[in-house]
Amino acid sequence: MSADTANPPSFSSVTSYLEWDHRRLDNLLESTRALVLLGHFSAAVTSYGQFLKGLTRHIRIEEEILFPIFEEHTGHSGPTQVMHHEHQLIHGALSAIGEAIDSQDPRRFEAEQRGLVHILSAHNMKEEHVLYPMTDESMSSSARAELVARLEGEPE
Ligand SMILES: [Fe+2]
Ligand SMILES: [Fe+2]
Repeated sequence: MSADTANPPSFSSVTSYLEWDHRRLDNLLESTRALVLLGHFSAAVTSYGQFLKGLTRHIRIEEEILFPIFEEHTGHSGPTQVMHHEHQLIHGALSAIGEAIDSQDPRRFEAEQRGLVHILSAHNMKEEHVLYPMTDESMSSSARAELVARLEGEPE
């Protein structure tokens, strides 16, 4: 287990856990960017690998666990369809960034990374302000605690 996930704080809601994970991932991407700009490509590959694993897991637990619960509890599938579409855009951007690092091309990295940050910042805001709080509010506190524990326990 990496240092970033060794001692996460404990969470009482989907919103607080997944917001924390968004910030953790933002920091990993920022570290990767700093390494690329310094020309430390092998360290950048390692850092980006952690980011990629973490974000892939984050998206997977949203799609497989959270979104079905949101749809069932709220009766709405519009918001999750939009999030699903944005996840596909995110996966595309992740591949392009990986290629830029592999080819040791800082300029391409900057362009692709900026594109990802653009998609992610709006995406994360919608989740943090709408989807996560609506999911939390749709559940009893014991069901919510069970869901948070399940999300936290999901492997990479
Ligand atoms: Fe998402
Ligand atoms: Fe998210």
